[in-house]
Amino acid sequence: MTTQVISENFHLAGARNALSKESCMKLYDEWASSYNNDLADASQNYIAPILTAQAAVAASTHTKATVLDAGCGTGLVGEALAKSNSMTIDGADLSPAMLKIAQDTGVYRSLMLCDLTQPIAKDDETYDIITCCGTFTRGHVGPDPALREFVRLTKNGGIIVATILEEIWVSGGYKAEVEKIQAEGLAKVVSTDLKDYRKGAGDKATFLVLEKSA
Ligand SMILES: C[S@@+](CC[C@H](N)C(=O)[O-])C[C@H]1O[C@@H](n2cnc3c(N)ncnc32)[C@H](O)[C@@H]1O
Repeated sequence: MTTQVISENFHLAGARNALSKESCMKLYDEWASSYNNDLADASQNYIAPILTAQAAVAASTHTKATVLDAGCGTGLVGEALAKSNSMTIDGADLSPAMLKIAQDTGVYRSLMLCDLTQPIAKDDETYDIITCCGTFTRGHVGPDPALREFVRLTKNGGIIVATILEEIWVSGGYKAEVEKIQAEGLAKVVSTDLKDYRKGAGDKATFLVLEKSA
């Protein structure tokens, strides 16, 4: 095993076992400078950001959509979105160091320090698309209030694309919260496909696509 692989596993394990928002933020602040390289390694092959962007483009009818990339990290989803379409992209994340790298990509209109476990300081119906990749995972952000907040911030007919790590889709209450949101008539489930997430490491995620009810 190479030194790089040990480092990747150390950071990822730490992130997924974070016991508090503060420890999660500290971990990402420390990981930020090597995050992209670590997850691009063949042992990880983190393809979720590209699949998230593809799902958002496929599900949206807008050619000039306004997007919130929630839990944007270093900007992998924003970069993938920027390649495939003409979009205006805002980002939000807990880690200042991750946001700094996202800023350097040049693809975000604005970036906001934000805790997704709390209400989000944005107006109702601001975005055509919300993406959230890699942030509904162990030790990070739970389903409530984040999913409802995403629905609130999305325009009628707009799209939410979020990955939820396979092992917590049911046990973490995400599936139940999505069913509740749909039963309340707030949004319709378009799909919940199980897809590769870190293809090199063999883990998968539910790729949730929600459409906000008009
Ligand atoms: C695995 S990274 C995913 C980043 C990016 N979306 C990607 O796919 O590369 C998880 C991100 O969630 C952020 N995060 C963790 N807890 C958060 C919270 N409570 N509020 C907002 N962001 C959070 C971390 O700072 C980190 O950037």
